[in-house]
Amino acid sequence: MEIIIRPTPEECASIGGRIIANLINGKPNAVLGLATGSTPIPLYSELVRMHKEEGLSFSEVTSFNLDEYIGLSGEHPCSYQFFMNEELFGKIDIKSNSAHIPNGEAQDIQSECLQYEQAIRSSGGIDLQVLGIGSDGHIGFNEPGSSLGSRTRIKTLTGETIEDNARFFDNPDQVPRHCITMGVGTIMDSETVLLFAFGEGKADIISKAVEGPVSAMVPASILQLHPNVKVIVDEAAGSNLANISYYKEVYENKPDWQA
Ligand code: F6R
Repeated sequence: MEIIIRPTPEECASIGGRIIANLINGKPNAVLGLATGSTPIPLYSELVRMHKEEGLSFSEVTSFNLDEYIGLSGEHPCSYQFFMNEELFGKIDIKSNSAHIPNGEAQDIQSECLQYEQAIRSSGGIDLQVLGIGSDGHIGFNEPGSSLGSRTRIKTLTGETIEDNARFFDNPDQVPRHCITMGVGTIMDSETVLLFAFGEGKADIISKAVEGPVSAMVPASILQLHPNVKVIVDEAAGSNLANISYYKEVYENKPDWQA
């Protein structure tokens, strides 16, 4: 794991944007795994900026989002489809049929999940997965106790996640209780993972995920077993890390070939 701690979310987003642009410039038909929530917003703004000002093209890119609420249509302002259209897809040149999000209104949820896994496989697999982290350690909506080998499936949100996400809805009762999410195993199959976290509220879970034991009770901790993960956090989210000064020293003294 490489731990990168920068002063602000914008600086973290600029690093993430550069990594994604390098990937797409080297492989125009790259497959991206994307997240929603408040964390990736600065990253998506940076990608939009790079598209508009630097000509970064997503025309051959395929994307797969991590998750979607069950029961919300793509037009619902709290659906992840709506979020992605607003924050990214509507502002870049990705083809709409190349940008995949689980269908939260599917009649047959189980076959929707199987088809989603199949579509990821048929695309050649995810080159780079963007992740946020829930305050309970979830990645995607893989809540504590999720199988660390799980695939795309239905999950029930925890009370903590419902409370955290209530800020996007008019009241907590409107937060759907169920979602479709890529599994932990699906996420672990990605070639590269960028995990972002910002703010003091994420400091405790970031230290557990990065420095604690690998446990299904902190699903993000499985990333310690992934060979190519960068955890990119602002000062506040990194503030509980025991080895913080070491991570900073490593980042600031990278040999040229690695930088
Ligand atoms: C969203 C997702 C979730 C969020 C997490 C953090 O697609 O997969 O794991 O990344 O709930 O949400 P924010 O960024 O709103 O704190």
